[in-house]
Amino acid sequence: MTDMTEMSGRPVISATGLFTPKDSISNEELVASFNEYVRRYNQQHSDAIEAGEITALTESSVEFIEKASGIKARHVMAKDPVLDPDIMSPRWPQRSNDELSILAEIGVKAARQALEKVGRKAEDVDAVLCAASNMERPYPAMAIEIQQALGIDGFGFDMNVACSSATFGIQTAADYIRAGNAKSVLVVSPEITSGHLNWRDRDSHFIFGDVATAVLVEDAALAPAEHWDILGTKLKTVFSNNIRNNFGFLNRAYPEEAEGADKLFVQEGRKVFKEVVPMVAQMILEEAERLKIDPQSLRRLWLHQANAGMNRLIAHRVLGHEASDDESPTVLDTYGNTSSAGSIIAFHLHNADLQAEDTGLICSFGAGYSAGTVFVRKAG
Ligand code: COA
Repeated sequence: MTDMTEMSGRPVISATGLFTPKDSISNEELVASFNEYVRRYNQQHSDAIEAGEITALTESSVEFIEKASGIKARHVMAKDPVLDPDIMSPRWPQRSNDELSILAEIGVKAARQALEKVGRKAEDVDAVLCAASNMERPYPAMAIEIQQALGIDGFGFDMNVACSSATFGIQTAADYIRAGNAKSVLVVSPEITSGHLNWRDRDSHFIFGDVATAVLVEDAALAPAEHWDILGTKLKTVFSNNIRNNFGFLNRAYPEEAEGADKLFVQEGRKVFKEVVPMVAQMILEEAERLKIDPQSLRRLWLHQANAGMNRLIAHRVLGHEASDDESPTVLDTYGNTSSAGSIIAFHLHNADLQAEDTGLICSFGAGYSAGTVFVRKAG
């Protein structure tokens, strides 16, 4: 273990990792499956529909999805059952308690990639935070299982701040470094969102995708030459019911509601759009001012990946002009909304070309509402 007195107390991002499931579902495939479900449902209930007792379901459309969200495809852990109109949910055999959980498995894959990139061994890392919105179970913590699978001697815990989990995790890790309580912390965000997505809901069936990311936050004193200095982190939460999931232990108290649609992902997408864009843009501008960074000088924005239109508006307000793909890269077109992992995927895939001294922003926003900013500068 490194002597903490040698540490600088300055947090940096040393490396990132990404695990992408093999299976991908295009909008065309998704809509064909959804519309077949609608056809069967309406046929099955034709008498009740004709009698005005229930409302017929309406078909989904590829054009709407792409225009309204910018999403063209999403990766999933299990494609066939999701597309089967009789199932429309992920399916795989339950694992025994002696096997690695599926969520830990993909988290470990992303974490290993980050560690290997900078030659870190298990003994170099002090802590693992599993920062994600779709935990597989309440306990033991996913983080502790990931910690054990990686062979790390230290501590780990889970944190769920919905789509902002990763940036909240980065600030938490950075604070451990700033306080001298750790020198190297893994922030892992495995997101199997396909379990909580209501694939039968026309308003939201196209939104989410599965993925896992990892961010290695370390003390500058032991960072590799190529790293990203963390200039400042800022978190914000404001209560809202506009994105909500009522799944939990206490559902057992009212079993007659167990299958309610509110136990899956539900949102008022338009309200989210309208309320979150100004909140996040203002937060970024205020934090840039506090850090004495000219927002127009930001070389790249790695924004949360929920909606291309939201990102266009936020980037415009921050940069003062329409952002190019180079300034605000999009990954939601092929990944969909991957909850907390979205801005980290964008950062992971689109940072290698930046030059030393280039400044950028990792920013997340989502349910809670919750939002987080991490301003970074490339070292060199
Ligand atoms: N196919 C075809 N039409 C659809 C449809 C579908 N799958 N889903 C909805 N529509 C229709 C609606 O019925 C509505 O029709 P109407 O105008 O005749 O009433 C119309 O499209 C507009 O629906 P609306 O829900 O207002 O769409 P929108 O433009 O707000 O786009 C979202 C929906 C979800 C893509 C968008 O609101 C969004 O991305 N919001 C932000 C979400 C977000 O960031 N969430 C964070 C989650 S972590």
